Amino acid sequence: VLSVVLPLVLLVLVSATPTQHYALQGAKVVRVVPHTLGQLNHLHQLLMQGSYDFWKEPRALGSPVDIMVTLPAQEQLMASLESHSLKVQERLSDVGKVIAEQEAERGQRGAKAMDWADYHNYETITAWMASLAAQHPDLCSMEQVGTSYEGRPMYLLTISKGGTDKPGIFIDGDIHAREWISPAVVTYMVNQLLTGSHDDLLSSVVFYVMPVINPDGYSYTFTDDRLWRKTRSHTDSVFGCMGADPNRNWDFHWNEVGASSNPCSETYAGPHPFSEVEMQVVRDQITRLGNLKVYLTFHSFSQLWMYPWGFTTDLPSDWKDLDDLAQDAVKALTAIHGTHYEIGSSTNTIYAAAGGSDDWAKGVGGVKYAYTVELRDQGNYGFLLPRSQIIPTGEETFEALKVVGSFVKNT
Ligand code: ARG
Ligand code: ZN
Repeated sequence: VLSVVLPLVLLVLVSATPTQHYALQGAKVVRVVPHTLGQLNHLHQLLMQGSYDFWKEPRALGSPVDIMVTLPAQEQLMASLESHSLKVQERLSDVGKVIAEQEAERGQRGAKAMDWADYHNYETITAWMASLAAQHPDLCSMEQVGTSYEGRPMYLLTISKGGTDKPGIFIDGDIHAREWISPAVVTYMVNQLLTGSHDDLLSSVVFYVMPVINPDGYSYTFTDDRLWRKTRSHTDSVFGCMGADPNRNWDFHWNEVGASSNPCSETYAGPHPFSEVEMQVVRDQITRLGNLKVYLTFHSFSQLWMYPWGFTTDLPSDWKDLDDLAQDAVKALTAIHGTHYEIGSSTNTIYAAAGGSDDWAKGVGGVKYAYTVELRDQGNYGFLLPRSQIIPTGEETFEALKVVGSFVKNT
């Protein structure tokens, strides 16, 4: 029997494995640090050219740039970097192998139920959200607030004790599909809020949470391409490239800087502001809820706590208030595992990029404390952060959230 069954099982296993790793077999992530303007310009040119996936975009002299390069393109990239005397350091020697290993491990665990020992797909996360609302009807409710381009329901969790007539904190995750630590940490924090003893906080603050605001992209990273970033809409009939960068799609200084009009670019702003239905859904919630004091959107990676603006080097007039709260939050975060974060306006910390949700939340939505948080790590694994780091990242980030929560409670 075994001799018949085993090959069958193997066949099923093999055919169920997505083919994505073949293209990424031997793909590397390399780091270079520009020290001259010539080198920085060269890296900008490579970025604009669009043939490489920049895991970390060029920002300033002395700050590292991480580039993923497929096996066939390696020789050309190395030559191009060497021609500008950029020293190349290898960060990941085989991206395809890391993805395959992580996926095999997930398959072996076969975990269908939600936990923070591993990353989970959209269905598992939404089923878990529904179960929370059922288990904690006094603290938590879930409602469908929209539908994604491909038809996935999008849900909002409302977490509070004794009504919602109190200042609100809006939290979203996974605007960028491949940044898996984001929904993992957002759900971790929701779980802490509901299962820890936070009655005091929940009595005076209401949390609105959407852990996965790019559900089509997120699902696609589980089935087809672990490193997909954008949405999955059909935006381009010429080259057939799909999706827009949801964090370049918001209608505030849209497409002015740091975004692309090329549908094939990873930072494509979309054909027009709010072309992506998922971002309309999130926008409508922020608008509807009102009384929001804080907007927090979780990305990865780089360990940064950023505030507006992302479209200009200018700072908002009340930037000091945002900076002060960020400093307090990060201090609490770092105290847990010693994780280092940088703080600043997003343009001055990384690069100018218009059309982000944080800028819209503050500039149009009127939410004073708008932050983009780039979670772990600093590039050792980047988007492929091992599952063993979910809980530590959740623990430290939750400390920061508690600081933000008590600040809101006390103002
Ligand atoms: N890495 C994020 C992105 O590229 C940073 C966003 C910061 N905010 C901004 N408005 N540019 O989307
Ligand atoms: Zn991101």
